[in-house]
Amino acid sequence: MNLLVIGTGYVGLTTAVSFAMQGHHVTGIDVIEEKVKLLQQGKSPIYEPGLEPELQRALTKETLAFSTSMAEHVGEADVIYLCVGTPSGSDGFADLRYLEQAVETLRTFVQASEREHVVVIKSTVPVGTSDRIAAIFAEDKHVHVVTNPEFLREGRALQDSLEPSRIVIGADRKEAIAIMDQLYAKITAPRVYTTRTNAEMIKYASNAFLATRISFMNELARLCHTLGADIEVVAEGMGLDSRIGPEFLGAGVGYGGSCFPKDTEALIQLARRHQSSLSLLETVRDVNRSQVDWFVERMVETIQGVRQKRIALLGLSFKPETDDIREAPSLTLIERLQKEGAILTAFDPIASLHVKQLYPNLSYVSSPYDALKNADAAILVTEWKECVQLDWQRVKQQMAQPVLFDGRNAWPAGFLKENGFTYLGVGRHA
Ligand code: UGA
Repeated sequence: MNLLVIGTGYVGLTTAVSFAMQGHHVTGIDVIEEKVKLLQQGKSPIYEPGLEPELQRALTKETLAFSTSMAEHVGEADVIYLCVGTPSGSDGFADLRYLEQAVETLRTFVQASEREHVVVIKSTVPVGTSDRIAAIFAEDKHVHVVTNPEFLREGRALQDSLEPSRIVIGADRKEAIAIMDQLYAKITAPRVYTTRTNAEMIKYASNAFLATRISFMNELARLCHTLGADIEVVAEGMGLDSRIGPEFLGAGVGYGGSCFPKDTEALIQLARRHQSSLSLLETVRDVNRSQVDWFVERMVETIQGVRQKRIALLGLSFKPETDDIREAPSLTLIERLQKEGAILTAFDPIASLHVKQLYPNLSYVSSPYDALKNADAAILVTEWKECVQLDWQRVKQQMAQPVLFDGRNAWPAGFLKENGFTYLGVGRHA
């Protein structure tokens, strides 16, 4: 099939590469000329494991191409994916400007085309948006509007798009469903065929629920800290209940990234606009916002203040295997610790350059051991394996004081305590 993917950000690019890998002919469209040039040369503007080699392979096989011109390619496209960004507006509500612009441009081209097209909304959009877009195309009987949300995790995006947990198809016409089934013919995964509105809600509800699990565990971890219980053991015991399951029970310095903070806020604002309230989700957001503060307060208690202390930050991206720092807890930590007068040295395998643009006055080093040299304390911010699997003897030799703050509960707490480290995790009592 011929596909057009409009918007080559993280979702669009992964979608384009993965459909090209499945044998479809895909053209990725973006308005940013430099980005298109880069992609045409086989260079990925984002770091995502496996993406760049597959991008290059697909370009060589000519199953994938990139262009700035929607006009040239709409006519031949069976399926047109809309993957433009829907960032948070100043009121926390999703900003649909880019999507609206893309739809407007697209409409002029599909109107001129004779071919049957499926226009797929992949961007995360407030519930009701896809139906409004469908209404725009109402007179164009050869155009079907489908909602097909993404459930990709950064760092595993390609794998998630090839082996998805489910495929959700929000459509109201048989013809559109048949085309979507053909498109996904090579993927084995449970399918949910539903309305566009339900598909949009499934996306928000999934992210909101995962965020809720994390904030629940983070708040519980604070209580565990006070009571001398260990959140990791609690999570293990809870996760064995098949109704709960073990995933997303990890306490830490909070969730970040381009999805959970934005999508929870958008859902909260959506409810408000409709004179409804999602008080539970508001608390989820507030717990997350205060988690770094809580952790810094515990650190300050442990080492009697951080003023003029040399602190190593290990990991800066919002999670491992990505260079994405959007809403990363590391940024809040830097702000907070600088305000308290700490002297910071940071290490991240790939995200340092991005953080350096925001905080040029920190030291950035290229190995965790360089960050630990003469440090009075170290904080594990992102559980990169480079930051987790350390030679502890060497760590102890490097540091001025063997004090470890484990913001991801990923270091071996018991072993470290037995070996003379001062260790503080998030709600751990090993
Ligand atoms: C998330 C969802 O997991 C995807 O299903 C969804 O498609 C995506 O958002 C999206 O809407 O595009 P992602 O933001 O890539 O994916 O990252 P996650 O792996 O979900 O992690 C989000 C944050 O939660 C990270 O900061 C991570 O460190 C934190 N987290 C995760 C915890 O603090 N504890 C956990 O147990 C799990």
